[in-house]
Amino acid sequence: GTPETFYDAVGGEETFRRIVGRFYEEVAKDEMLRALYPEEDLGPAEDRLRLFLMQYWGGPHTYSEQRGHPRLRMRHAPFVIGPLQRDAWLRCMRIAVDEAGIAEPYRTQLWEYLEMAANSMLNSFV
Ligand code: HEM
Repeated sequence: GTPETFYDAVGGEETFRRIVGRFYEEVAKDEMLRALYPEEDLGPAEDRLRLFLMQYWGGPHTYSEQRGHPRLRMRHAPFVIGPLQRDAWLRCMRIAVDEAGIAEPYRTQLWEYLEMAANSMLNSFV
């Protein structure tokens, strides 16, 4: 049969819902980070990040059906993302990933991807 995807191995949509939900709880409490998000309601941003990650890891392609090609660097260009913003984003995500109880080697694989992706979103040196 078809090899199991990373998405299925870590528990599918429920796991991504848990991670991204927890992540945005932390974002809401981080003043510097929260100020970057243009919308008052973080719910739609939560949906977009969850759907993107689900698609990236082999789940349904709902993100691209709704948003088109991810072009994440371009979509982040309106926001100043320097080392402080990256570190704050990763701090929130670290809590969310740690609490999701994902087994190795998946947890490390996910974390290394998120660190790499966060670094690739840098568009400011301050
Ligand atoms: C959108 C900040 C890293 C994925 C956004 C938005 C902000 C933001 C302010 C707009 C909220 C919205 O309307 O959706 C940041 C900061 C980062 C970061 C400060 C620190 C490095 C990342 C990383 C990923 C990611 C590493 C993916 C692994 C997304 C996605 C969207 C988004 C999928 C929605 C794009 C769309 O379809 O419009 N981010 N982000 N972000 N971010 Fe990030």
